[in-house]
Amino acid sequence: MDCRGQTERRKIEHIVIAVKENVEAPHKTTLLEYVEFVHQPATQLSLDSVDVSTVFLGKKLSAPILVSGMTGGTALAAKINRAIGEAVEELGLAMGVGSQRAALEDSSLEYTYRAAREAAPSSPIIANIGASQLVQGLSREDVERLVEMVEADALALHLNPLQEAVQPEGEADYRGLIEKVRWLVEVSPVPVIVKETGAGFSRESAEALRDTGIAAIDVGGAGGTSFSVIEAIRAERLGLEDEALSARVYADWGVPLAASILEVRAVFPELTLIATGGLRSGLDAAKALRLGADMAGYALPVIRAAYSGGAEAVKRLLKRYIREVKIALFLTSSRSLGDLKKAPIVVWGALREWIESRGLRLPG
Ligand SMILES: Cc1cc2nc3c(=O)[nH]c(=O)nc-3n(C[C@H](O)[C@H](O)[C@H](O)COP(=O)(O)O)c2cc1C
Repeated sequence: MDCRGQTERRKIEHIVIAVKENVEAPHKTTLLEYVEFVHQPATQLSLDSVDVSTVFLGKKLSAPILVSGMTGGTALAAKINRAIGEAVEELGLAMGVGSQRAALEDSSLEYTYRAAREAAPSSPIIANIGASQLVQGLSREDVERLVEMVEADALALHLNPLQEAVQPEGEADYRGLIEKVRWLVEVSPVPVIVKETGAGFSRESAEALRDTGIAAIDVGGAGGTSFSVIEAIRAERLGLEDEALSARVYADWGVPLAASILEVRAVFPELTLIATGGLRSGLDAAKALRLGADMAGYALPVIRAAYSGGAEAVKRLLKRYIREVKIALFLTSSRSLGDLKKAPIVVWGALREWIESRGLRLPG
């Protein structure tokens, strides 16, 4: 099969495996269960009056929620991107598209990404490309095409060394990465976001990116979707037993989401920080915001909703998340997201141990 056919087949496999199989880290969690807001029964707010609006990439959002980049490159992906686009446009949220590598290889697939922008003309949309493609050599024209394709408000560069290492056809070679990130920031017409894809982020890696000029980090923390599990399932289906076993070994690899936020904040106190990876409710999002995130991102639950119920199901899910974030503000007596960042919390158990052993600090 040619390179293009392979990319396309892989995209379909990723979607179908993600929606139909159990692809979350089997034992690892986000550690958000060790963060507890202190309930404030003597609040003097009303649930309707709490304000969760924010500004992201220069655009006003009704809540600090985005749908993380997942797909593109096939007709099914176009449908999913359109469904997500419709939902975020109506609700005033943001979204990313999946890796646009397929469209760089074959321009006839551009429509599968553009579907998002057509459905969401006024929402922030984030373009997406992988670090492997960057390291192997993108041209300035490629970068401009990625951005123009979806009239992107930002460009996400995804770091997925775990997936590259355990994927049968992976390209695990990041030599020269930081220099290339610097170049990308220079040539990109829009701000560059560096994102992980579910194995999390560390203080050391944040430090390496310190002087590159990036505009944001999406920590893509561990505890939710595990690409090692997805690749193990693919390898099993391809009859690649040893590769499948190696992928399973790393199923729980990574820095849990809650720890990833604190790790990155230790280096970048002000940078826009997006928390994705294992968020499964609006309360999870509120905890991530309290730990220092500016935005909360959801992937797996959204693609499942889009696959099974289209735009209506995605809207319903995202409305639920917004409502749950608002409830967290109400119950912590927080009028706005700024207040939530100072709301009293208790942090205990494994997250406290992580904080202590890494010499981190809790904000607020
Ligand atoms: C089916 C699927 C495809 C994905 N494809 C991409 C991708 O192309 N680029 C990317 O940066 N992240 C990709 N991701 C990673 C997500 O953006 C997110 O970081 C990760 O799934 C963790 O969030 P979750 O636990 O809410 O799923 C993908 C996730 C899923 C589930």
